[in-house]
This record gives sequence, C-alpha cells and structure tokens, in this order.
Amino acid sequence: MDLEYALSQTNVCAEQQAEDCGIIVFGASGDLVHRKLIPALYGLMRRRLLPPRFYILGFARSDISEETFRERMRKAIIDAHGEQPPDMLNGFLAMCRYSAGDYNDPAAYNRLAGRCSVCDKDFDSSGNRLFYLALPPELHPVVVERLAETGMTAEGPDRNPWARVVFEKPFGHDLQSAIALDNRLARVIASHQIFRMDHYLGKETVQSVLMFRFANAIFEPLWNRSYIDHVQISTLESIGVEHRGGYYDQAGCLRDMFQNHMLQMLAITAMEPPISFYADRVREERTKLLRSIRPWSMDDLGSWIVRGQYAASPASSSSLPDYNSEHGVRPDSTTETYVAAKLLIDNWRWQGVPFYLRSGKGLQRKSSEIAVTFKRVPYSMFGMTSKAQMPANVLILKIQPDEGIDLTIQTKQPGPKSCMSSMALSFKYQEVFGITPPNAYERLLLDCMQGDRTLFWSREGVEAAWQLIDPVLAAWREKPHLCPLHRYPVGSWGPEAADELVRKEGRRWRRPPEMAGTHEL
Ligand code: BG6
Repeated sequence: MDLEYALSQTNVCAEQQAEDCGIIVFGASGDLVHRKLIPALYGLMRRRLLPPRFYILGFARSDISEETFRERMRKAIIDAHGEQPPDMLNGFLAMCRYSAGDYNDPAAYNRLAGRCSVCDKDFDSSGNRLFYLALPPELHPVVVERLAETGMTAEGPDRNPWARVVFEKPFGHDLQSAIALDNRLARVIASHQIFRMDHYLGKETVQSVLMFRFANAIFEPLWNRSYIDHVQISTLESIGVEHRGGYYDQAGCLRDMFQNHMLQMLAITAMEPPISFYADRVREERTKLLRSIRPWSMDDLGSWIVRGQYAASPASSSSLPDYNSEHGVRPDSTTETYVAAKLLIDNWRWQGVPFYLRSGKGLQRKSSEIAVTFKRVPYSMFGMTSKAQMPANVLILKIQPDEGIDLTIQTKQPGPKSCMSSMALSFKYQEVFGITPPNAYERLLLDCMQGDRTLFWSREGVEAAWQLIDPVLAAWREKPHLCPLHRYPVGSWGPEAADELVRKEGRRWRRPPEMAGTHEL
C-alpha cells in the first residue's frame, strides 16, 4: 500500500464550512488584524470554508475611508500570502466594510448597529454576528457593554440568529481583574457567547497532541510516572518585543506566554482523557489539570523559577538592542523577557515527574516543542555502555517550525563493530501532507463561526491559571531578591541560571536541533 493510498484510507476529516454570518472586528486598524486575522479569513476563503453569505465590518478609531480600509486589507493579504489571483482578492475585498468611532461613544455604536443591519441585508447573512475584540483588555468590558446597550449582542429564539464575542488574550491582568472582567461580562452576555482566544490551541501541532495521545493505543499506557522521566515544553523566540514595547513592558513573559500558551500546552500534554471530544468535557479536563499543578514554594522561589531579560550582544548577528532601550519600554524596567520554571503535578499519573517550561525572546532561534523524555533502560547488557550512557527515548512534538513528531530510538550502526546510534523516527507535516499547517487563526475563527468552544479557554481555566501565576508576580514585586532578574545576551539560549535549574537535577535543556549521537560499545 503506498503512503498516499494509506493516508486516504484513514483520513477522517471533520472540517465543515461555517454558518452564514458577519464578523465585526474591533481594533481593525491594529497590527493583529493585519498580520493574523485578515490573512486567516482570506485563507479560509481560499479553502472554501467561509460561509457563502458573509461580510467583514471593521471598527476602529482611525477616521479612514472604506476604500483606504480595503487597500490596507489588500496589503495585509499580499504581505501574508504573496500576490493573489485578482478575482479572488477583489471578491474578498468586496465583502469588507468599515466604520470609525470611539470605543466609548454610544453614538458610534448606534451608527455601528445601523451598518450591521444594512450589511446583514446586503449580504443576506441571516443576522448571525461575531464580534472580534482585537483590543487591549481594558477596553473589553466597555465595548461589550456598549454593544449590549444597542441590542447587538441579543440573540434570537433558540440562538437564531446568534451573537458571539471573541476576546483576545490576556484575559485580565491578574486573578482579581480576570474575575472582575467576567463578572461584568456576565451581566450583559451569556457564557455560551464568550470565546476566549488562545492562538496556541489553534496550532495544528498543538491539536495533534490530542489525537496523538487519544487516537493511538500504544502511547497512553506509557504516559505516566512509571515510564516518563520528565517533560520539557519550550517556546523560544528570536524576535524581541518589536513594536509592542508599551504592552509588553506591562505584561512580561509570565503573563504574555506562561499564563496562557504554556499552561495550555502543559494541560493538553498531561490531562486525563476526556470522555468525549465535546467542548465542555475537554475544557473540564484541561482545567482539572491546571488545578492539580502544585503551587510554587514562595520561600525558595528562585530554585523553581528563573527570570531573565535580554541585553544587546556584540557577538550576536541579531541587531536587537538591550530590552531597556526598546521603544515603549521604561529604561529602568525589570520586566522579564524570559522565564524558565519547574512544575510538579499533584495527581496519581504525574506524581514526582518534573515538567520544565521555558519561554523567552531574543534567543538564538525560534522553536516551540513539547519533548517527553522516557526513563532509561533498567539495565545495560551492552558491555562497555553503562545504563547511564544509554540515551533515553525522547518523543518530540514539534509545534513550530518543521511541524512534526520525532521519536528517538537507539539502533545498531551497520558494520563489524557494535556501534550504537541514536536515530529519530520522524514524521514531518510538510513531507507527508505537502502543505505547511494553516495559520492557527483559521481554525479558531472557523470554530467561532461554528459555535465550537473546545479550543477556547473557560472562565474556570483562566482563573486556575491566574491562581498559579499571581503569587509569583507578587513575590517578584515585593521580594525581588528571592528571584533575581538575570540578564542574558541576545542570540543565546537564555540565562545560565536557567541551565542550572535543570542541571542540578541531572538534566539539561534540549538545544534544538539535538545532534544524533554515536556510542561505541
Ligand atoms: C503572542 C505573544 O500571544 O504569541 C507574543 O503575545 C508572542 O509575544 C506570540 O511573540 C508567539 O506566537 P507564535 O505563534 O509566533 O509562536
């Protein structure tokens, strides 16, 4: 059976076109909309997954004409996808409308409501509306309250037509603000209308962890403390804060990456099997896992968490400046651009298995992966090679780039000598499916339009994540000596103290790509 035939025989696909609707994008002149949202909507159209009756209505403060808005959207699409067939591109732009206004001004919402009604009629989109808040979190409650005042978030009988609101992360700034935000939202919209976005959950390779774990019988029996030595989850970036210095300096790596993307990847890797792939069941399991993470000990926080900040390096080919010299960053800022942490999970499956998480900017290269290191063989029968020299099997779920899955195994090298080699059984999305996985936003936007909240945060999940993170933020603020800020050179792999965090436990961080080793026996 050739590979193509084998794939077609087992290809069980659940992707369907979305329901007719309009998407109203707040923050339409912002960077996220240009870089991610519009290219993703266009990508959906190319794959014929946009509904047949659909429109995009941009809303922002910039007083620009509809024509200028369309030209900006055209540029965003070409920047992301390259030159496009004019018919397709013009067809997409013909669905774009724009309305300017202040996020606080009730009159602007009255105008917007009028535009929505006209668009609903012009595009015959059944009155279903998706409001997408690509805005800083402090604007979230006021925008939803104004929308509710004008009746735009009201749904029809049996949710027909429906109204949904998508919130970009971060959800609050800490536990208290997240609870306050949810309480305000609860007064004006129902929980089923709320979609809390975490684009990592939309990444093809993050979702494939679920299928890998729960659609293959051979790994799950090994997925526990008896066979797994430790797990490393890394999201490393070579870029700095780019043009987002103002936001990032208030947030820092712990809020920007750990509280959401990193903890979700941990939850998906370690959660118990949900009883079905129904949104609430999957979200419950993820939340349960987050609740079983052992809170860090505040007395010796520095031996659990390391924080760092990048500093310009003449030795690096990168031209990144000191973090403190970035635009929008305070010159004396102590905001962290790197965090490495050890976590323990207090449940039967994971008791005693360390999960090491690290994320940072200004590092040597971009690479995100989940690496599961199994325990070593219990005894070596190969003469000179001791058990300690025998490499452990590592399963690497590569999130990006080079999306795929590797499993390292030890094999004999051909020849008269007994030479052992570490090899990888390797699966690459690009090679097997001939495509790079679609942008995470495509999948998540489609899910919003279909009303599927499986890959979105629940309120309980957000609160569990803040409960874990809040005490660390407080300790860094109030007792900085417990966890000093380490400078690390741009283009490095992070602070030396992060290496020490794992080295003292007899382990080391993976440095992708790991070199295959050869051991003479
Ligand atoms: C965002 C963070 O959520 O994720 C950014 O705010 C980060 O700081 C980005 O750069 C990383 O996403 P990706 O998809 O490029 O790994």
